[in-house]
Amino acid sequence: MGKLDNKVAIITGSTSGMGRDTAYLFAKEGAKVVVTGRNEARAKEVVDKIKADGGEAIYVIADAADKNFAQTVYDATMEAYGTVDVLMNNAGMLSLAQFATITAEEFMEDININVTSALMLSQKVAPVMKAKGDGHIINIASIVGWAAHWGFVAYVTSKHAMVGLTKAMANELAPDIHVNGICPGAIRTAMLASVGGEDVFQPMVDRTCLHRIGEGSEIAKTALFLATSDSSFIDGQLLHVDGGVDV
Ligand SMILES: NC(=O)c1ccc[n+]([C@@H]2O[C@H](COP(=O)([O-])OP(=O)(O)OC[C@H]3O[C@@H](n4cnc5c(N)ncnc54)[C@H](OP(=O)(O)O)[C@@H]3O)[C@@H](O)[C@H]2O)c1
Repeated sequence: MGKLDNKVAIITGSTSGMGRDTAYLFAKEGAKVVVTGRNEARAKEVVDKIKADGGEAIYVIADAADKNFAQTVYDATMEAYGTVDVLMNNAGMLSLAQFATITAEEFMEDININVTSALMLSQKVAPVMKAKGDGHIINIASIVGWAAHWGFVAYVTSKHAMVGLTKAMANELAPDIHVNGICPGAIRTAMLASVGGEDVFQPMVDRTCLHRIGEGSEIAKTALFLATSDSSFIDGQLLHVDGGVDV
């Protein structure tokens, strides 16, 4: 028996990285998974693998920057499965624009994709979860949502907002819906590679107890914990999954 048997889980940004690892783990645990992203070839690959391994999934192509993102993902989920039990707001981007020169448009791109899309999709699924008296929302923030990293001003701001959003939503949606977040440290994914890879993060890694980069599968395992009653007395919390930064 799987920990997510008969559950429907939307995982945004699950065409790669930690979202994809979470999609695989949730499907293995019995969930019907809704995979989202912009890249159709990769979305199809994820769904095909889940099905080849005996699981169930669909994919939805939707851009989190688009104002119809939440409606598109919600409609496709309801059409395919008629309900939703778990939402992981994971889709994200990281702008390299710097404080001195960033434009309002560049700043808002990080905010819209990393935060606003999460709020709007949560707003869509919350009534379904409330009506069932049960639901789990997991927001992917970052350790830079807790303490700033030099540079990445829009990204750092957006991840601080994800921490605030998690607490605000936990207050609004209790007791039926548990809302928690994860603050990953440096995790080996395409996003990490896009900012220069492991060298850029070595100073942060040097500050961790475990002295290594994390894996997407380690975020997936934490998400599974937060998606089930194993975490029944945890609400409005951000779990730092970072190898022990500055402990
Ligand atoms: N890697 C790290 O060290 C680290 C640390 C802390 C937090 N995080 C957070 O973890 C989350 C996942 O990132 P990752 O590291 O796994 O990176 P990743 O492999 O690059 O995955 C990012 C995912 O987000 C999707 N995405 C990006 N922009 C999108 C958009 N405009 N609309 C819809 N989907 C979009 C991508 O799908 P498509 O390309 O198909 O659109 C992809 O599936 C992000 O929120 C990130 O900020 C990462």
